[in-house]
Amino acid sequence: MVSRVIPVDVFDLVIFGATGDLARRKLLPALFRRMRDGQMPGESRIIGVARRDMEADEFRNFVRDALEEFEPEAAEAPDVLKAFLGALDYLVVDVRGDAGWEALKAMLRPDIVRAFYLSVGPSLFGEIATRLKKHAIAIPESRIVVEKPLGHDLASAKALNARLGACFDEHQIYRIDHYLGKETVQNLMAIRFANALFEPLWNGQYVDHVQITVAERIGVEGRGGYYDKSGALRDMVQNHMMQLLCLTAMEPPAKFNADFVRDEKLKVIRALVPANPQSTVRGQYRAGDGEGGYLDHAENPDSNTESFIALKVEIESWRWAGVPFYLRTGKRLRARMSEIVVVFKKPPHAIFPEMAQQGSNELVIRLQPDEGITLNMTIKEPGPGGMRLTEVPLDMSFAEALGAGHHVPDAYERLIMDVIRGDQTLFMRGDELEEAWAWIDPLVAAWEENGARPKPYDTGSSGPEDALALLHKDGRKWREIES
Ligand code: BG6
Repeated sequence: MVSRVIPVDVFDLVIFGATGDLARRKLLPALFRRMRDGQMPGESRIIGVARRDMEADEFRNFVRDALEEFEPEAAEAPDVLKAFLGALDYLVVDVRGDAGWEALKAMLRPDIVRAFYLSVGPSLFGEIATRLKKHAIAIPESRIVVEKPLGHDLASAKALNARLGACFDEHQIYRIDHYLGKETVQNLMAIRFANALFEPLWNGQYVDHVQITVAERIGVEGRGGYYDKSGALRDMVQNHMMQLLCLTAMEPPAKFNADFVRDEKLKVIRALVPANPQSTVRGQYRAGDGEGGYLDHAENPDSNTESFIALKVEIESWRWAGVPFYLRTGKRLRARMSEIVVVFKKPPHAIFPEMAQQGSNELVIRLQPDEGITLNMTIKEPGPGGMRLTEVPLDMSFAEALGAGHHVPDAYERLIMDVIRGDQTLFMRGDELEEAWAWIDPLVAAWEENGARPKPYDTGSSGPEDALALLHKDGRKWREIES
């Protein structure tokens, strides 16, 4: 299958924090791939901004090294590599002072798309936005891109929204949640709204419950400083998992456009029943497999921060009344695996003797690794011997279905191009962000009041035993964590 690439308009993209980790690992390789695939017009420019004093040529060498490390295939396309490096420029700007801003202004071209990617710590978001406005670099058509952590609680999220809102209109603010850029997450909307098959069943009449798992093998390692103040709830649930929940649970938007989709997601968050601390399980991984435990990397050696969380979430709506959504995410688990599982109810009447022992139909939407969709069905076991039943997966791996060589774009490729196109559908709106924090805050407060320590769990396990019990007591079972 040949992928269709529609080139975007010519742009000037300014990356603040261009020598940082995100830029090196993700943003610059993503932009390179978009140029290689013919989507980024050659006249576009990427202007790296950072504190480090260097010439544009040094920055180009820096980017060449980054590509060598994170996009080794770049060397196989020397002409594109040359054009890409030629599209780069560099500037030292004092983001907390006034130096460099006028030079930046002079560098930008009028009448073309202008975007600012703030790949810097959140404490600088307001500073940079304010200076972009003060120096008249932010024009009405320009866009600003920010990424988590977008606040630490409702108050700080509101303050951030207000600060950005004082300099940019909401339609210019792109709040990245990189999960929304994942191909299968977008596919969730296609599955639901481009097929007649599932949507009639997508409600409490037919769905028993939903499981959303984002399991990671890695630990917090070098990120202990940030993570210890955050924990799994803030790091993964408030944003990524909340977005997955919203896309799974939302009503069909009347149109596939940014505000229609975001309105529907917002309604889901507003309909969430306040989280019951008794239906949450917090965990912290122990040392194992020759690696240190959570506390060996945490800022505070006695930290109470969770590296795992499982919770039962309920939505007060006609569609979902009585249907629990179980969410779990954690580090140092058995495998890296993210999936959404819609578990359907059993048929209302059992005509085959073995039916009671059979599992239910499950629609598994796999985000990673090996993106794809599986529908687990019950069929007759082949051969004579009566009507014995067995379960089989109807499996569709995107890599297989779409053919070898089909490149599944990285989330950042998609999202950066959406910024240039001016399409906010896959970005969080300010009210969504605040509403998500408003749901998270009371849970954090309840945990703090209670002071209980997270349950220890083994590296390579599926989390603390209590997380299994969370479903067992409802007569349900998590799907195995396996890659
Ligand atoms: C980030 C979190 O937002 O997402 C990390 O801060 C986490 O803790 C990461 O590891 C997971 O992203 P992905 O794309 O690897 O699933």
